[in-house]
Amino acid sequence: MIELGVNVDHVATVRQARRTYEPDPVIAAALAEQGGADGITFHLREDRRHIQDRDVALLKQTVTVKTNLEIACAQEVVEIACATQPDWALLVPESREEVTTEGGLDVAGDKGRVQAAIEQLKASNILVSLFIDPDSTQVEAASSLGADAVELHTGPYALAKGNHQQAELQRLRESGGTASKAGLRLHAGHGLNYHNVRPVAAIDNMIELNIGHSIVSRAVMVGMKEAVSQMRQILDLVSP
Ligand code: PXP
Repeated sequence: MIELGVNVDHVATVRQARRTYEPDPVIAAALAEQGGADGITFHLREDRRHIQDRDVALLKQTVTVKTNLEIACAQEVVEIACATQPDWALLVPESREEVTTEGGLDVAGDKGRVQAAIEQLKASNILVSLFIDPDSTQVEAASSLGADAVELHTGPYALAKGNHQQAELQRLRESGGTASKAGLRLHAGHGLNYHNVRPVAAIDNMIELNIGHSIVSRAVMVGMKEAVSQMRQILDLVSP
């Protein structure tokens, strides 16, 4: 059975829009567990635009399924990961200007920095996954550095249409095959939604999918009627 990692960053994004206490990604994670999540993913960005240090500490304390802490290969956040001890660290590229993670980590082109982060994390007994484009050179580089898993970037697949989407799917299948042959655990994520997830879940040896935006978007929609009804009830008590 494919494992579902639920990314709660987008809950924190809504909270940070007001710099208030709600919605709390920690509570969202508990509800995601109740819904059947096999893991909770959260990205402590260097700019702290959504997940905060407090979230990382509380998620580690409260999540009972796997924790997957997404970070850049940067000393400050690698040290926080080592101190927090999530089950997994997911190394990603990061740039301040991007709206979300754009493109995979250039493992082949930046081996020194990636290797240093992997070694530090593994010395703290944290499993390491690398977020990479579906490209055999990157998969081979990930394997040569001793990563435990690769997470294939499904963003281009998610954005493509028709034949282009089939071609992107084929890239995912091929690099997934290379990863499995190299003994790497195969994960994928980014841009997956209720319409496009099935062919990715069906890729041979796929173990885990990390999904955030579409689930949080759906949660807003399925919860909207109930939320309005609860406010209506309060107002009706004041002036029936
Ligand atoms: N995997 C990685 C490395 C990501 O950065 C993200 C986005 O936060 C996801 C998976 C989940 O992507 P989405 O929010 O589009 O489902």
